Amino acid sequence: MKQEDLAFYGAFAPKLQEIHDLMLHEIQAILDSISTDSETAPAEHLKCRIKSAESLKEKLRKNGLPQTPAAGLQHLSDVVGARVVTHFIGDIYTVLERLEQSDKWQIKKVKDYIANAKPNGYRSLHVILTMPFGVGGIETIDTEIQMRTIAMDCWASLEHQLKYKKNIRNTALIVDELKRCADEMASTDLSMQTIRDLIQRG
Ligand code: GTP
Ligand code: MG
Repeated sequence: MKQEDLAFYGAFAPKLQEIHDLMLHEIQAILDSISTDSETAPAEHLKCRIKSAESLKEKLRKNGLPQTPAAGLQHLSDVVGARVVTHFIGDIYTVLERLEQSDKWQIKKVKDYIANAKPNGYRSLHVILTMPFGVGGIETIDTEIQMRTIAMDCWASLEHQLKYKKNIRNTALIVDELKRCADEMASTDLSMQTIRDLIQRG
């Protein structure tokens, strides 16, 4: 953690680091075990991060909550978050099954924005976990794992970049074009999954 984040999270920092490490190691172990079973790696990459003080305060402000670490831990689910980027759509559901079997956490909620894409075209599967916490009177916290294919990750990353270009107005044309790109990439994901299934069937 950066110095300013350590200062912001204070007494919560060591536990947050511990949860971050646990998530990273447990998810990596799950990915490794799937690779061993199927001889193909399900994930292109795995990342885990503790939200920066700056971005947490901004999100709390937007939600009309006090800009304190405790408010973040009690009201938000992504103070600690992981992202698994897979090659194929099917891999996401294989990893989900393993996440559900883990005894390191309880699964609170699964938000399937692949089966039900957001209106703007955003696709990913979000898994909200409940983790034991036990610091400063906070018994448990929620954490989030986002799972998406390389194509979904590509779109989310580009769309995120565009959102920061504040001088560009969100015209109907731009919204429609972004949605069209998301749908085209989703269609490619389905084709790639079909090709993979054909190859695996031999
Ligand atoms: P926030 O949107 O984060 O305030 O929380 P929420 O409770 O609405 O959860 P949701 O599942 O909608 O989104 C959680 C996270 O998913 C976000 O913080 C982003 O990382 C990601 N996400 C959701 N929607 C989009 C989107 O339209 N574009 C991109 N690039 N990322 C998104
Ligand atoms: Mg949202």
